[in-house]
Amino acid sequence: MTRTLVLDDVTKAFPTGTVALEEVSLSVSAGEFVSVVGPSGCGKSTLLRLASGLDEVSGGDVEVNATSTSYVFQEPTLLEWRSALRNVELVGELRGVPKLERRRRAREALDLVGLSGFEKQHPRQLSGGMRMRVSIARALVAEPDLALFDEPFGALDEITRLRMQTELQSLFALKSFAGLFITHSVSEAVYLSTRVVVMSGRPGRVVADIPVPWGYPRTPELRYEPEFGALVGEVSAALGEHS
Ligand SMILES: Nc1ncnc2c1ncn2[C@@H]1O[C@H](COP(=O)(O)OP(=O)(O)OP(=O)(O)O)[C@@H](O)[C@H]1O
Ligand SMILES: [Mg+2]
Repeated sequence: MTRTLVLDDVTKAFPTGTVALEEVSLSVSAGEFVSVVGPSGCGKSTLLRLASGLDEVSGGDVEVNATSTSYVFQEPTLLEWRSALRNVELVGELRGVPKLERRRRAREALDLVGLSGFEKQHPRQLSGGMRMRVSIARALVAEPDLALFDEPFGALDEITRLRMQTELQSLFALKSFAGLFITHSVSEAVYLSTRVVVMSGRPGRVVADIPVPWGYPRTPELRYEPEFGALVGEVSAALGEHS
């Protein structure tokens, strides 16, 4: 199995003297969806920035075996003057994909995230959850081998958030990229992932790496199963011990 992302003994110290990450080793393979949970300020966003190449390590190595990486930020970063369709098309435009082809792919991606019929709307005409779906469609239309998510559902209300989780894991079931997902929500991490990585407080270290046994697609009702609750408890306990 290709290890799409490998962080080997990674340390990150900022010029300010803050050591954000210490000796973090973590890998994500194709077909794995790994969530990272940890206390605020433990270096999760820093970890994602290092994985994406937006920032450089102070020690250790980052290896990315992907032809395409996408990044979904906490706040949807859409272009206000472009319609939903043209926001999703942007990646194809930048890559020189012919117009009809990139339009077809963008429509398909919007359909996958449940936004058929909203292609012509501009971001301000969409709800927060819909804007986040456009962001996810834009990330996935690029057919990434590696998809990085930094708390994408943090700003959503609970109902929309649960719906987005259900949609994201069913997209993962279809596309099977390597996923790295940051969240504060333990149940979100367990619901979405093949593995949950728990980090300690700053400097962030990996303190637990807990496999999640269920295949995909997952039903919304999985959340009510006792085994699901037990795993959420296990992750929460690891988090509590090290924060
Ligand atoms: N560019 C920077 N320069 C200096 N320090 C930084 C920089 N970026 C982050 N830090 C520090 O590194 C630490 C980790 O920050 P990071 O944003 O990775 O945390 P986080 O785990 O994502 O937190 P949260 O859950 O609140 O989003 C913090 O102490 C932060 O102040
Ligand atoms: Mg962060």
